[in-house]
Amino acid sequence: MADNSKSYETEHVEEGGKPQGFLHDIQSRYAKVDPASYLRRPDETGTHYWGRRLGSLKPVELLLAEYANSELRQYLNALQLTFIGIGAIIGTGIFVLSGQAAAQNAGPAVTISFLIAGCAAAFASLSYSELASMIPVSGSAYTYAYATMGEFVAWILGWDLILEYMVGAATVGVGWSGYFKKFFGLFNINFADSWTEPTVTWDENPARIYYEEGHGFNVPGFVVVLLVTVLLCVGIRQSAWVNSAIVVFKLFVVLLFIFAMCGFVDRANYDPYVPPNTSGDWHFFGAPGIFAAASTVFFSYIGFDSVTTAAMESKNPKRDLPIGIIGSLVITTILYVAFCSVMTGLAYYTELNTATPVITAIESVEARTGKSWMWIKVIIIFGALAGLTAVILVQMLGQTRVFYAMAKDGLLPQIFTKVHPKFKTPYVATITVGIITALLSAVLPVDLLGNMTSVGTLLAFFIVHCGVIVLRFTRPDVERWFKIPGGKYLFIVFPVIGQVICVLLIAVAEVTTIWRLFVWMGLGWVIYFSYGIRHSKLHRDPIGRFAEVHANADTSKEEVYPVQDYDYQTNRN
Ligand code: ALA
Repeated sequence: MADNSKSYETEHVEEGGKPQGFLHDIQSRYAKVDPASYLRRPDETGTHYWGRRLGSLKPVELLLAEYANSELRQYLNALQLTFIGIGAIIGTGIFVLSGQAAAQNAGPAVTISFLIAGCAAAFASLSYSELASMIPVSGSAYTYAYATMGEFVAWILGWDLILEYMVGAATVGVGWSGYFKKFFGLFNINFADSWTEPTVTWDENPARIYYEEGHGFNVPGFVVVLLVTVLLCVGIRQSAWVNSAIVVFKLFVVLLFIFAMCGFVDRANYDPYVPPNTSGDWHFFGAPGIFAAASTVFFSYIGFDSVTTAAMESKNPKRDLPIGIIGSLVITTILYVAFCSVMTGLAYYTELNTATPVITAIESVEARTGKSWMWIKVIIIFGALAGLTAVILVQMLGQTRVFYAMAKDGLLPQIFTKVHPKFKTPYVATITVGIITALLSAVLPVDLLGNMTSVGTLLAFFIVHCGVIVLRFTRPDVERWFKIPGGKYLFIVFPVIGQVICVLLIAVAEVTTIWRLFVWMGLGWVIYFSYGIRHSKLHRDPIGRFAEVHANADTSKEEVYPVQDYDYQTNRN
């Protein structure tokens, strides 16, 4: 914990001779962090010391000072951060899963599913915004957990985020390959599965993974991930501009589809709007089917939190991160609802169970009207390919920054902290993430990767909700540019509802997915106890680490981050 020394407790609990109460005691402890408290006390048993280490926090002031000393280029503004959010959000979810969820679970009411999933994401976005506005540093949920619940929970989060970012990027890489094939298919050029499909296939029932005859290596997915890796190595400035350009194109394509095709909506396709439950199984249509579809299309909203991973590279993160997070989510929710309304109005919902449902919907209009919409199909496929590329880019940006943050803390090898002297990017982390993501994309199937991404993200959201509650009580003194509404106590309703939704959505995931989550997290425990706990910088030399941050503080940033005001002086004795 932050401080366990008896003299310190006495000083604060009995300030002015009066007992101050439990909450005051907690707040006093967290408001002043003594680097010496990370060291083993002479009279402390080994078990007590190591147990205490698992819960030791990284003080918010140290995080703020790290931002002030960051070697990364602080370049991004609110608009670019919003674009990073949109770049990460609009992708496989709307271009692929929307049609599948309509056909299999909800019918035209998939639009309502998108609204429900959007609400789930909105709760999480509030928690992320509050934390980002008070701890604007790279590492996203990992950093928030370190500042609120201690090193061990932080490690669990960091390890879990690999599922959201790296596995998420690999999922989209596989989806990219599907649109790539479809594009050439429009011109009757059909590629062999041997180099366009992942090596293995997953069957949920009975659970087995097997080599699919005729499939070799998903070359398009592999190559696009490697190209994105090169871009990320070259620089945040270039990456941000490429991302912004792609996002503009992606938004154009989504709006083009909505406005060009809305005149062709056939109201008969909305009937029935909520198809009756068909098979007695709860997730096939009817009202329950709408919720089942919501859990599928939740994937569509993953990505707004990526905005926080670029915190170290943003100019005014306390203000701009919440704008980026909430802005990107609001814009995409509106677009998703309009997009789905039009798509399900163009074709009967049963037709939409394809790898490219948007194109299927347009082909249905072509069949109905006898008119060709080839140009719009080509533009939309280009938009989808560009859009999916942006998702890969932002997810990988997030993963590299999380690795960078974890390595800075000593929980991962130091090599991941290496910043390229010219490009100012964490290039070793980027290349490592790029190669692993490319291989995952080339070998594993989309459903297996996608399900792991969803449960991993939900777990991260759950812990972030915990973090916002904890920090409200432990560090009310730290300035927050954005606060969850509701005042001192009622704000808690938002993160708690968010947590309930996360648990519900994890509970409806496939059983094997939940098992894989356990195995993955178990592996994380092994790595932490064999490496991270021994190399944690906060524990190896806490006093030196605090002093180092203090000594390197960039005074030009003092106005925004009062690092000099923080008392790093400590009594080693
Ligand atoms: N939200 C992102 C997508 O739908 C992950 O592809």
